[in-house]
Amino acid sequence: MGFYKNIARPLLFRLDPEVAHRLALAAAAKSARAGPRLRNSTSIADERLESTVAGLSFPSPIGLAAGFDKNGVAVDLLAGLGFGSIEIGSVSAEFSAGNPRPRLFRLPEDRAIAVAYGVPNDGAAVVASRLQWTHLAVPLGVNIVKTNLGSGAPPESADEIIADYVASARLLAPIADYLMLNLSCPNTTDGRDFFVDRSHLEACLTALGEIGLTLPVFLKVSPLGGIETVERMLAAADGASFVSGFMFNLPPGKPAGLKTPQDIWRTTPGAVSGPPSRALAEFCIRETWRRMDRDRYAIIGAGGVSSGEDAYRMIKSGASLTQMLTALIYEGPAIVRRATRELLRLMERDGVRRISEAVGAEARQE
Ligand SMILES: Cc1cc2nc3c(=O)[nH]c(=O)nc-3n(C[C@H](O)[C@H](O)[C@H](O)COP(=O)(O)O)c2cc1C
Repeated sequence: MGFYKNIARPLLFRLDPEVAHRLALAAAAKSARAGPRLRNSTSIADERLESTVAGLSFPSPIGLAAGFDKNGVAVDLLAGLGFGSIEIGSVSAEFSAGNPRPRLFRLPEDRAIAVAYGVPNDGAAVVASRLQWTHLAVPLGVNIVKTNLGSGAPPESADEIIADYVASARLLAPIADYLMLNLSCPNTTDGRDFFVDRSHLEACLTALGEIGLTLPVFLKVSPLGGIETVERMLAAADGASFVSGFMFNLPPGKPAGLKTPQDIWRTTPGAVSGPPSRALAEFCIRETWRRMDRDRYAIIGAGGVSSGEDAYRMIKSGASLTQMLTALIYEGPAIVRRATRELLRLMERDGVRRISEAVGAEARQE
C-alpha cells in the first residue's frame, strides 16, 4: 500500500472526488494493454477460491462492483488487478448526463463515499460497441438501469420504463457474461422507487423473458424494507426462470452511526457506500439466503467489503460472490490481492477446502 497510501492517494484526495475518479479511470484505460501481464503477477490462482455460480466460472469470489467503470473503458486493466469478476455500469438505454455536480463526496472518517451520480453513462449502444471484441479472464457483468432523463423530464409510464430496460438488455446481453438489473438506483432525480410495486417488477421480468435472454440475470434491489423487500423480490422472481440471483444496492439516505459530523452528512446528498452500508447488506443477504431456493439462486454481496475478513463474513452470511468498490478508492489497487490472501488464510484456519462450502455457514447456524 506504500505507493498508493503515501503518494497517489494524497494527490488524488486533494482533487474533487469526481475529478479524481475520472483521472484514475483514464490512467487505467491508458494502461489496458498491461492488464493480462499484470494479472499474471496479481491474481492468486487457487482452486479453493474458484466457484461456479449461475453456470459461470469465477476464479475468486472478490469482484469489482458497478460504478467504478460505468462505461467499460478500462476493463482489461481492472481485470488485471486480480478481481474474480468485473461489473461495469450502470448503463442505460440512452446516454445520460446524470445529476448536476457536485455529486460525489468523500466521508473519510467513515472510509465511505456519498454517491449522487444519478447514473451518468454513454448509453447502451456505445458501451456495447466498445466492448464487442473484449474477452476477459474473468466474468464480465453488465449492470443496466433506467435512463435518467433529469429532473425536468416529464413523468414516464410503466411501459416506457420497462421498455428502457428491455432496450438495454437487448444491446448489452451479447457482450456480457451476466446482466445485473439495477432496480433501485437511489440517485435518480425523481426519487421514486418504481419497483416497490411488485407488479412493476413482474411486468419488467415478463418483458425481458420475451426477448429470450440466454445469460444469467441478477436483480440488484434496494435493501430498504428488509424482510418485506426480500419476500417481494423472491415472489416476483419466481416465475422468471432466467433470474439467477440477487444483490443489494446502497440504501438511499444516511445510515445511523456515521462518524462523519452531522453538520457535514446532513448537507451532503447521496447514498453512503463503504463500511456504513455493511450491516444492512449482511442482514438482507442472510434473510434472502434463508428464504431462497438455493438450487436456483445465488447472492452477490457488496457493501463495505474492505478486507478478506469482510468478504468471508459476507460469504458466511449467504453470498456466493462478493464485490468491492469503495475500498479500492481508499486502499488502492493492492487491496484486491491483500483481501484475497486474507480470505485464503481464514479458509485455511477454518479448514474450508472450497469457498462454496462457506456460503451461508452463519446464516444456517442462527
Ligand atoms: C462512486 C460509486 C458509484 C456507484 N455507481 C453505481 C452504479 O452506477 N450502479 C450500481 O448498481 N451501483 C453503483 N454503486 C454501488 C456499488 O456498486 C456497490 O453496490 C456499493 O458501493 C457497495 O460496495 P462498496 O461499499 O464496496 O463500495 C456505486 C458506488 C460508488 C461508491
